[in-house]
Amino acid sequence: MIRLKVNGVARQFDGEPEMPLLWYLRDILELTGTKYGCGIAQCGACTVHIEGKAMRACITPMKEAAGKSITTIEGLGAKSEHPVQRAWRELNVPQCGYCQSGQMMQAASLLKAKPRPTDKDIDDAMRGNICRCGTYQRIRAAVKLAAGAHHHVRPTGGAAEDRAENRSSGEVQA
Ligand code: FES
Ligand code: FES
Repeated sequence: MIRLKVNGVARQFDGEPEMPLLWYLRDILELTGTKYGCGIAQCGACTVHIEGKAMRACITPMKEAAGKSITTIEGLGAKSEHPVQRAWRELNVPQCGYCQSGQMMQAASLLKAKPRPTDKDIDDAMRGNICRCGTYQRIRAAVKLAAGAHHHVRPTGGAAEDRAENRSSGEVQA
């Protein structure tokens, strides 16, 4: 019996321990926001958080999820109000949308580790998340906008300046 937590809810899984976590999330829990793209850790569409860190659910067997806390896009922010989700909406990042759950989960993980990421930090963190529609410029701008929002809720502030800086960079025009 594998015990794990998904979006804060305790779950038990009594099936094949080698089964990918992605199948469990999509087919058993019906959390279909997490997507299947390549199945071999090459696209990032299946990105979820395991213990707060971005991981590829397609290559994570259930046995590795045992005892862990998993977060999917459905659990990222209450009422979809995580700063990353707000920024994605504000800048209309998605085109077809297929890759975007993974992109947001990857971005949220980056911002948790580095609340004020540089362009290089963003490129390094997001490199493994492929977007066939080519929304990369908007993704980068949205990560910066979300970083500003993060700072907005921090006691040291600075969000207004960050947001103004982001908007004047021209990168949101992509
Ligand atoms: S489906 Fe997991 S990385 Fe592509
Ligand atoms: S928005 Fe279409 S693949 Fe990224």
